[in-house]
Amino acid sequence: MLLPRKSVVLKSASELKRMRAGGAILKRVVDHVAGLVRPGVTTAELDEVAHRLILEAGATPACLGYHGFPASICTSVNAEIVHGIPSHRVLQEGDIVSIDCVLLYDGLYTDMAVTVPVGRISHEAQTLLRVTKESLQRAIKQARPGRYVGDISVAVQRHVEAHGFSVIREYAGHGVGHAVHEEPAVFNFGLPKRGPLLCPGLVLAIEPMVSVGNWKTRVLEDGWTVVTTDGSLSAHFEHTVAVTENGPLVLTA
Ligand code: MF3
Ligand code: CO
Repeated sequence: MLLPRKSVVLKSASELKRMRAGGAILKRVVDHVAGLVRPGVTTAELDEVAHRLILEAGATPACLGYHGFPASICTSVNAEIVHGIPSHRVLQEGDIVSIDCVLLYDGLYTDMAVTVPVGRISHEAQTLLRVTKESLQRAIKQARPGRYVGDISVAVQRHVEAHGFSVIREYAGHGVGHAVHEEPAVFNFGLPKRGPLLCPGLVLAIEPMVSVGNWKTRVLEDGWTVVTTDGSLSAHFEHTVAVTENGPLVLTA
């Protein structure tokens, strides 16, 4: 999340249907690009493929030009947490890389990220990826009417800290749909039953950002790339999730 804006906007059933279509495209793009990750590939090559696939699907890459961001995906390697800029950096065996993408389809935005291994990775990196992904799954289960944003936050924090990792505190998930970043902010730490009450039609980008070390961050000189100050590995998974009468509906599935 960069700048949360607008108040909470609920989505109608037909808007959810449109976001589901966009989310399906986004999921396909992210999975395809993640499947190309291997030692020797550059992050710019991944971006080129994402850009082409998004356009071929009739969608618009929403990261490109967002506050001047220069690419269609964010690629964040190792100690980079989020908002890494694709470049001629060559991925190396043992790296982890997050692929984060937002697209605009039929007038609505969806947001998704995964972190994937480059070749063989350390045991610690494997655990980091698994725990971060599990924390997202646990958080998604909380996205139902009657729960609070704080319940989502707590679900992430508990799981992550139980494994001795840290949740990044200076960035958060967010509402999404009519804009890339809408209210409410969805922090990855908090307290049960705090924050806005979840109700049907609310759509959230839930995005645990987790580091092996502490949670302090800084932004590199490129003005975008957020890194851990202690240089520790970081992972990021994200889905766009609608709160419905029947419980959570993952739109990027
Ligand atoms: N998923 C990221 C976020 O919520 C993508 C933002 S768009 C970018 O912050 F321009 F920063 F890439
Ligand atoms: Co996001």
